[in-house]
Amino acid sequence: MLELRTLIAADLVAVQSLDAVCFAGEPFAASWWQKATFGQGACAWLAWQGDELLGYCLFSRVLDEAELLRIATSPAARQQGVAAALLQHAETALQQAGVEQLFLEVRLSNLPAQRLYRRTGWQQSGRRKDYYPLADGREDALIFCRAL
Ligand SMILES: CC(C)(COP(=O)(O)OP(=O)(O)OC[C@H]1O[C@@H](n2cnc3c(N)ncnc32)[C@H](O)[C@@H]1OP(=O)(O)O)[C@@H](O)C(=O)NCCC(=O)NCCS
Repeated sequence: MLELRTLIAADLVAVQSLDAVCFAGEPFAASWWQKATFGQGACAWLAWQGDELLGYCLFSRVLDEAELLRIATSPAARQQGVAAALLQHAETALQQAGVEQLFLEVRLSNLPAQRLYRRTGWQQSGRRKDYYPLADGREDALIFCRAL
């Protein structure tokens, strides 16, 4: 059974290891995981099955707005509803904490993530040209938002 819970210090090694797998070569800055652990402008939720970490999401937060910085599911556990469950859980918690507006940026080429966001109630609100680096050029970012 999937267990969804907030990030604690004891989870830091596991979540950073999974982040390194899911974003090979681009693990998120360790300082953000620290901030999320101590509730200093960031928050994160993890999805566990027993003692196996299946997924995570990380938000930054300023007043009534939050930005989804990262969401990922372990490659072997994808397309089984883990990310959708994490998002729903995180959005409920953020709403209860007074957040009213969510936003995120996603690579134009990341179609699985875009489908996840659309399927969970997010809407595209803009586009930033050449925002992300590629091995041989740059690619646009799509901006999505969601009112809670
Ligand atoms: C994007 C990602 C987080 C989705 O995680 P997941 O746990 O597999 O997603 P879910 O099983 O909850 O899927 C929810 C919805 O997303 C969409 N989706 C997820 N994976 C998809 C895929 N490979 N192709 C197409 N649609 C996909 C579907 O609409 C799905 O709903 P449905 O199956 O009912 O149609 C996962 O593919 C991942 O970790 N990717 C690498 C990291 C990443 O790019 N993160 C996003 C940027 S921070």
